[in-house]
Amino acid sequence: MLKLPLSLRTTMCLLFLFISFNSGGMLKMASAQRTWCIANPLTNISALLGNLDFACSHVDCQLIQQGGSCFYPNTPIHHASFAMNLYFQVMGRHSSHCDFRGSGLISLTDPSYESCSFHSEGDLAEAPPSATWCVAKPGSGEYILQQNINYACNYVDCSPTHDGGSCFNPTTLINHASFAMNLYYQTSAKNTASCDFRNSGLVVVNDPSSGDCTYASIRYVRYL
Ligand SMILES: *[C@@H]1O[C@H](CO)[C@@H](O)[C@H](O)[C@H]1NC(C)=O
Repeated sequence: MLKLPLSLRTTMCLLFLFISFNSGGMLKMASAQRTWCIANPLTNISALLGNLDFACSHVDCQLIQQGGSCFYPNTPIHHASFAMNLYFQVMGRHSSHCDFRGSGLISLTDPSYESCSFHSEGDLAEAPPSATWCVAKPGSGEYILQQNINYACNYVDCSPTHDGGSCFNPTTLINHASFAMNLYYQTSAKNTASCDFRNSGLVVVNDPSSGDCTYASIRYVRYL
């Protein structure tokens, strides 16, 4: 057997310990946070359909076709979000892969529901931004979106989502619900629980604000 000087053996031993410790630490970090990509609720239908076409030319969109486990709800925002997420995952989860000309949001919460699973393999490729917002899950049904509006608007001012308000368009329940849910999240404890809404809320790390419509934010430093 090769005889190494004691000091070299000690160094190698320490190096081995360091590598084992470090790779264990990395594995733990990788499994601790997963990320997904979804469409911003403020995105209009033509932009959503554009995103759907683009993403589905790169990834397998079978699950959102009729008979697939993610076909329902059959809405552009849900189908676009599903395809945008697959594209984001396949490309390696850089924020640029969830940009879609400013219409994508990176979620820290799993958008899966019932039998529809949104795949994720891990955290963002870059350091995550520190601010967070809350939006409705793209697969949420109309009933729960309306319930969330009724609940959150008891506590926060939802007038920007009323006719003539800066967040009225697009006139979809998911936009109006997301506005209300975010404001509720920002003004309450702003922990994951205040964006839960019976498992219909997602914590995202990009500002959904667009045009004149502002989704409020209170900056904080803790990464969930
Ligand atoms: C939809 O949004 C895109 C991107 O913001 C914009 O360029 C386009 O004019 C909008 N289309 C409609 C019909 O509002």
